[in-house]
Amino acid sequence: MNTKINLAGIEMKNPVTVAAGTFGYGREYSQFFDLGRLGAIITKGTSLKPKNGNKPTRVCETPSGMLNSIGLQNPGVEYFAQNDLPFLRKYDTKIIVNACGSSVEEYVELCKILNTLDIDGVELNLSCPNVKEGCMAFGNTYDGVKKVTSEVRKVLDKPLIVKLTPNVTDIARNSKSSRRCWSRWSVINKYIIRNENRHTQKTTSTCKYNRRTIRTSNKTSSS
Ligand SMILES: Cc1cc2nc3c(=O)[nH]c(=O)nc-3n(C[C@H](O)[C@H](O)[C@H](O)COP(=O)(O)O)c2cc1C
Repeated sequence: MNTKINLAGIEMKNPVTVAAGTFGYGREYSQFFDLGRLGAIITKGTSLKPKNGNKPTRVCETPSGMLNSIGLQNPGVEYFAQNDLPFLRKYDTKIIVNACGSSVEEYVELCKILNTLDIDGVELNLSCPNVKEGCMAFGNTYDGVKKVTSEVRKVLDKPLIVKLTPNVTDIARNSKSSRRCWSRWSVINKYIIRNENRHTQKTTSTCKYNRRTIRTSNKTSSS
């Protein structure tokens, strides 16, 4: 059966891939699973410089799923290029790097380097906080999406996927913004969660990327 697809200009032998950050750079999973069976591997979020990420606890199981607050921990693009990329290249699969930045300039510098590497495409993670604009995610506004995507497109010849945040009122508008800047595909990231504790009657909002756990004492009607 022909399972080939073309995703944003990337020819994949099948449409199966992994969500960024849930698969690391594939090393751990390679002990249990032939990575060459995947159509593509999307790496964990990778930045220009290494990041330590948030202090533990970073992942928490809940009755309805899990919460996470990783803080974009990663070894940086240089380490990735020297260590993880040669490892991944041993497998017959496409490699898409999930790119993170805290400013437009950082995304651009990172993508200049990614453009020189033997990778198949870039997924721009626009849920990262823009430190120059009060740490609001780049993907929260039409202009934020437009700015990063258009500046990155100037330095990146490879296929580009824009990963938007769903935590906005009009995601279709932001998607159009990225498409106008020559990204052929956009996908969405995870939701910010409100957790209501029936016993303490407190609500907890967990904000993924700036490690802010906002606790309010809103009463909830528990039943
Ligand atoms: C532990 C964990 C780490 C993640 N790290 C990243 C990341 O580095 N970059 C990114 O764009 N998305 C990251 N994500 C988001 C996932 O790639 C995915 O978009 C999200 O989980 C929504 O998909 P789902 O509804 O199937 O869970 C992460 C998710 C989890 C659970």
